[in-house]
Amino acid sequence: MYWIAEFYRSSPGKKYFMAVSGIVLSIYVFIHTMGNLMVYLGPGTINAYAGAVHLVPGLVPAVEFVIAVAAGLHVITAVQLALTNRGARPVSYAFHRYQEAGLAGRTIIWSGAGIAAFAAYHLLHLSFGRVHPDFVPGDVYHNVLTAFNVFPVAILYITAVVLLGLHLYHGLWSMFQTLGWSHPLYDSWRRAFGTGAAVLITAANVSIPVAVLLRLI
Ligand code: HEM
Repeated sequence: MYWIAEFYRSSPGKKYFMAVSGIVLSIYVFIHTMGNLMVYLGPGTINAYAGAVHLVPGLVPAVEFVIAVAAGLHVITAVQLALTNRGARPVSYAFHRYQEAGLAGRTIIWSGAGIAAFAAYHLLHLSFGRVHPDFVPGDVYHNVLTAFNVFPVAILYITAVVLLGLHLYHGLWSMFQTLGWSHPLYDSWRRAFGTGAAVLITAANVSIPVAVLLRLI
């Protein structure tokens, strides 16, 4: 255990923890997105799926525990790395010349903060129903449709999911770099994978509030 704490204390160690926790969160988001798409199959299918997931003994608490640990590690390491970077350069550059980073890279800390705020709201909204005025426990289809019938809520979800897409686009790319899985020969595959996954997750999740607003479901 001691070497893990030592490794975590170093900057490359923190980046490694960020990458691994990022993989765990990305896998969860991918599976969750596939589950969300069941809304297109009607109330019977998505409610049966959610019900079945809750029936597997220990599954939901185990998944919640893993996501909570991964999200906690991801956020704490991000803040620590940002503070270290700032400390290393107390006077900021007079001119910023961003060559490699691009928009998603330059704003990664802000998209991350936005996603964290959204996740807290989302749990209170669609998971616990505390801020959902018409929440019916167990009726996921009803909860999602009545949620997105409220225009500002639909816009909030669309904005959050676009932020998530930007975050994944850059995050997946730099994750490969951190884990040492980068080579000029495979860089185009790496870029294609990061872009493909980000576009798929964004488009799939944005489509749901849009479909509700357009009365397609
Ligand atoms: C249009 C997009 C989304 C929809 C319709 C949606 C829908 C839902 C619903 C209905 C639940 C409650 C499930 C249940 O109680 O059985 C839920 C839970 C959850 N969602 Fe989402 N979600 C969306 C996007 C996201 C995004 C982008 C994230 C990640 C940043 C996310 C993370 C979570 C988490 C962590 C839970 C709690 C899981 C648990 O307690 O076991 N969701 N979502």
